[in-house]
Amino acid sequence: MSSSVKPSASGRIFNFSAGPGVLPEEVIRQAQEDIWNIGGSGIGIMEHSHRGKLFDKVLAEAEEACRQVGNIPANYKVLFLTGGATSQNFMVPANLLPDNAAAAFLTTGHWAEKTWDEIKIFPTASYEAWDGRASKHTYCPSDSEIVYQDKPVYVHMCSNNTIYGTQWRTSDGAMRYPKVPEGSALVCDASSDIYSRPMDVTKFGMIYAGAQKNIGIAGTTLAIIREDLLKPVRTLPTMLRYEVHAKDQSRHNTPPAFAIYLSGLVFKWIKAQGGLAAMHQKNLDKAKLIYDVLDASKFYQGHARKDSRSLMNITFRVNPSVAKAEELDELFVKEALKQGMDQLKGHRSTGGVRASTYNAMPVAGCKALADFMREFEKKHG
Ligand SMILES: Cc1ncc(COP(=O)(O)O)c(C=O)c1O
Repeated sequence: MSSSVKPSASGRIFNFSAGPGVLPEEVIRQAQEDIWNIGGSGIGIMEHSHRGKLFDKVLAEAEEACRQVGNIPANYKVLFLTGGATSQNFMVPANLLPDNAAAAFLTTGHWAEKTWDEIKIFPTASYEAWDGRASKHTYCPSDSEIVYQDKPVYVHMCSNNTIYGTQWRTSDGAMRYPKVPEGSALVCDASSDIYSRPMDVTKFGMIYAGAQKNIGIAGTTLAIIREDLLKPVRTLPTMLRYEVHAKDQSRHNTPPAFAIYLSGLVFKWIKAQGGLAAMHQKNLDKAKLIYDVLDASKFYQGHARKDSRSLMNITFRVNPSVAKAEELDELFVKEALKQGMDQLKGHRSTGGVRASTYNAMPVAGCKALADFMREFEKKHG
């Protein structure tokens, strides 16, 4: 990081990283204390036995707060897994999809493409019920654009497309649920928007999310799974079986104890902020600050179609019709860093700029970025 970056009074700058992402200040401060000595035990959280009483409490509280925040019904298990969201690309079909049966895929972005690619290692009749590649993943499809063939065992979706900056949403930014054939389970990769807005868990067979964007740090993956889906359809290695993790309450082996602890703090923080409805309103307000600049400008061009704009990852570039647009994109990122805003470079597959505005990004960060965008346009437009 350049030494010319303007630090805030706290010594930190605005972190627009797509993940691992910004954490709430209160959470980091609490973790600082607990790393040294948690709960007066004289031992830090990272050094406690995962079978000891202290960690029993940490785990129970993390699950409880997760359930309260997400309004998770009793017939769903809450699991803290490892291997990242990427491991769910094989764990889900390994557990849920019998040989030669079909799952349907709604391919709305880079990560959904990866999920679809991985299914090919199984003997399968799976298919894409939506393929957004031709439209450069600029939007999430309406129900009339989704085409189911054979009835799928499950339908896989990705609620927020981190790289393209699109999200399944209604006009007021609420979760939009795709149509699903009667009796098929909906499985959702919610890695980049979990707990950023209310979500009706009962619409899903399973929701999973790598924790490192909205609910903690890399190392654990939250899985919320309906009980009837726990039993695997085939013989599987122990660690691949959801039923094992459910029976052993995410402690079949040594779990990522610190990552689970940290997610617990984040769930409690979300509760203290007023829960998911309040989180959603804050995220709407933050995203509006930036989208308003895009809408008032011919200098910038957003990637996402307006009806699919993500509240979590805002993707744009300098309009390619502007001279030296790509150089200006790079300059934008460099100059923003000098103003105390980091990690704004778009993903290598899309280029341009990406501002990730996860739950813990303060309103002031989005305001600073919006002001900077206007200044940059004035100077270079
Ligand atoms: C939507 C989505 N799914 C999956 C992944 C991969 O997650 P992990 O690195 O935890 O495997 C990411 C990472 O950015 C993501 O944004």
